[in-house]
Amino acid sequence: MRTGEAPHPHPGSRSGWAVGERERGGSSFHASRRKRHGNVFKTHLLGRPVVRVTGAEHLRRLLLEEHNLVGVSWPQSVQMILGSSSLANAIGDIHQHKRKVYAQLFSHSALESYVPRIRQVVMETVREWCAREGPISVYAESRKLTFRIAVSVLLGSSPGEEKMIDLLTTFEQLTKNMFSLPLDIPGSGYRKGIQARDRLHEYFGKVIEDMLQSDAEYSTALGILIQSSKDHGMGMSMQELKEAMVELMFAACATTASACTSLVLQLLKNPEVLTKLRTDLQIKGFQSGSATPLRLSDFCHLRYLDNVIKEVLRLQPPVSGGYRVALQTFELGGWQIPKGWSVMYSIQDTHNTAPIFQQPDIFDPDRFANDLTKGKEARFHYLPFGGGVRRCLGKELAKLILKVFAIELATGSHWQLATRTLPKMLMVPVAHPSDGLKVQFSAQFSNNTPAAEVHLE
Ligand code: HEM
Repeated sequence: MRTGEAPHPHPGSRSGWAVGERERGGSSFHASRRKRHGNVFKTHLLGRPVVRVTGAEHLRRLLLEEHNLVGVSWPQSVQMILGSSSLANAIGDIHQHKRKVYAQLFSHSALESYVPRIRQVVMETVREWCAREGPISVYAESRKLTFRIAVSVLLGSSPGEEKMIDLLTTFEQLTKNMFSLPLDIPGSGYRKGIQARDRLHEYFGKVIEDMLQSDAEYSTALGILIQSSKDHGMGMSMQELKEAMVELMFAACATTASACTSLVLQLLKNPEVLTKLRTDLQIKGFQSGSATPLRLSDFCHLRYLDNVIKEVLRLQPPVSGGYRVALQTFELGGWQIPKGWSVMYSIQDTHNTAPIFQQPDIFDPDRFANDLTKGKEARFHYLPFGGGVRRCLGKELAKLILKVFAIELATGSHWQLATRTLPKMLMVPVAHPSDGLKVQFSAQFSNNTPAAEVHLE
């Protein structure tokens, strides 16, 4: 078989690849292709062939053989905007070493130090949503929320409202143009992405300089990163630190905002789950706006909340899959994948077809009551945070933010769908409702008021 031509079925196996399909959105399209062609099939993305892979058995092989069978394959625009020292662009030993440095950002003590900041931003935000006259777009507002949390956790202090809005606008410009044709000409998406990156670097540069000059304790994520890089014998340069800030924000904000939005959506659609969650939180003494500081240990006994969040991430995983490139020609599920071909491992399809999940379309947090996803075999059936050497570094931080958000919402607000129908979900770049999810929030509710209402035609 020659490398680079249409992939061939493994000798003696199936009769051919499904070829010639155009790139299309929506998981139902891929679901019908999967039914016809099985768990490994060829499709197209931006005019290029991609092998789409589903199912725990295949994902385990791909993800555990990263750097050997497959490697990262980000588009050129992502590589250029994130920069040469980013994790996304690192491979092999350098990647492993960088992950060790970054891991300190998500240690138990680091997460503990972030809790008050996360809670403060979440409380202010939900209060502001409830005070609004009209409905809000939950997805757009959740992106602002996660950006504010990221700034607070990374840098400690708030830059002031005017600067915050300026930074948010710049960051949205960077995210919007992250995946663009690498044409550096005036007005192109790529040029806008680079310009936004440069403005963020300029701001972070000043903050980093101030931090390096002051003797203040390193109590922010940025401080922890500086210290950790020294402890691991690779003191990071100014450029590396700036790139790290942008990369962490990019990895954290849209993904967590997607999950916050899906949480609101699922609690709207499933009021009995919300009632159960509220009752559980009330029994355990959680109150909206309470002045009692929260600690990580306070979240340990919130089993039902854990299961609600797991179920949101199962049914609507923010990241629907990950892209790789074949580093050698190899066989998967009876097919040969030629060296150089793109491979996409699908998180969403894998969740939808995992034998451990009965009735996968139903939102049922209780399915996680029996630790379904524990154990070696089950691990790759459920992977909202990916797997293998590139699994999500911020997983525990993301879950912490979601828990604080869910507690504040469930104990302190009432919300109602402001449209006649529920929106469709789009999966690119992260899972999000097509209309942003228009919802009216209010602070008033009694124990007799359902905390969320949906009136559909
Ligand atoms: C619900 C929220 C989140 C979801 C669903 C999510 C999901 C993922 C997934 C699926 C990957 C692996 C991608 C691949 O295999 O190509 C990943 C990687 C990553 N995530 Fe997250 N993520 C979330 C939040 C966060 C947060 C809050 C942070 C950090 C502040 C973060 C930092 C990262 C980093 C740095 C990587 C790259 C790791 C590497 O290349 O070694 N993520 N994430």
